[in-house]
Amino acid sequence: MKKYSLLLATALLIFSACSKKETPSPVVVTPPVVVVDTMLYKMMPFPVGAAVNISLMKNNVRYSGIVTKEYNSVTAENAMKFGALHPSQNTYNWADADYLVNYAQLGNKRIHGHTLIWYTSLPTWVTNFVGDSAAWENLMKTHIQTVVTHFKGKVASWDVVNEHFEDTGIPRNSVWRQKLGNDYVARCFQYAHEADPSALLFYNDYGHEYSAAKRTAILNMITDFKARGIPIHGTGMQFHMTVNTSDANITAAITGAASTGLKVHISELDIRLNPSAAQNIAYTSFLGDQQALRYKYVVKTYNTLPVSQKFGITTWNVTDADSWIPGWQGAPDWPLPFDANYLRKPAYKAMIEGGK
Ligand code: XIL
Repeated sequence: MKKYSLLLATALLIFSACSKKETPSPVVVTPPVVVVDTMLYKMMPFPVGAAVNISLMKNNVRYSGIVTKEYNSVTAENAMKFGALHPSQNTYNWADADYLVNYAQLGNKRIHGHTLIWYTSLPTWVTNFVGDSAAWENLMKTHIQTVVTHFKGKVASWDVVNEHFEDTGIPRNSVWRQKLGNDYVARCFQYAHEADPSALLFYNDYGHEYSAAKRTAILNMITDFKARGIPIHGTGMQFHMTVNTSDANITAAITGAASTGLKVHISELDIRLNPSAAQNIAYTSFLGDQQALRYKYVVKTYNTLPVSQKFGITTWNVTDADSWIPGWQGAPDWPLPFDANYLRKPAYKAMIEGGK
């Protein structure tokens, strides 16, 4: 018995000695969790931009966060228009546009200027202006050259004239055309070029994808400018299109613009889901997927152009909450790649797919 107790005691002693020994706890190797998030512009083979609203840039961090993260080009949605920049004859209001230019410079983003001369968004001092054609010419030239000079070296490209044509292909009867004749468009390009010879100058318009007559008129004007040595470097196609726009029409617009040999900018892309302006309509994932197919087709077709012609694709604003479309068409819509909660929609991924 004594012998057994001794053995037991010895065993216990050994056991307790062993258990006191520091056994290293097993090292569990868990792979680090790497959240790989996409940034749209890093996934695209050409610049990708958004038109931005300056007050949202200043006051909404979710909005400015998306712009900062996803895009490498910006356009002012309204802040560089005539009425915003030049509210009275001797007053220029640079604050908002300068804010955006400064933001773009700090963040290494390109800034595209929109727009020097347009038939609308004019201040009343212009629409009420009284003067002969020399006085009108001087007004137009002074505006162009003051603006281009102010941003010289910072804004490297401009929509010089916006929307000169009607959908029928005839020149729009704008105040500029009434006072100065059709060829004011060419002179706008010359004035802008004089003020900043290194700026890239674009003619910008909508409807290339649905009006062959308008498309032809635009292409003819560009051909004429090239023949006359008018400094023009690119064509901007707005592409405010609908989910029903056909592949054939998108292709015709893109190949037509590319046939000029100039740079091509899809300058104001948005794709409406409610083209009949129905009031009682809701976003569905079906609609979102249809829209994604259109976004993908646009990007894919555009991406077939030579690198030197791909100036980039710019969407007209950032999220469905901020788009001009619902207000313009007087009905709900969801035209952009981000939803009203600032989340990516299928169109976002579709753009990346299209750019592969
Ligand atoms: C629109 C803006 O998005 C709106 O906020 C503004 O009220 C009117 O202008 N073609 C253009 C753009 O060239 O300047 C327009 O922008 C949309 C149509």
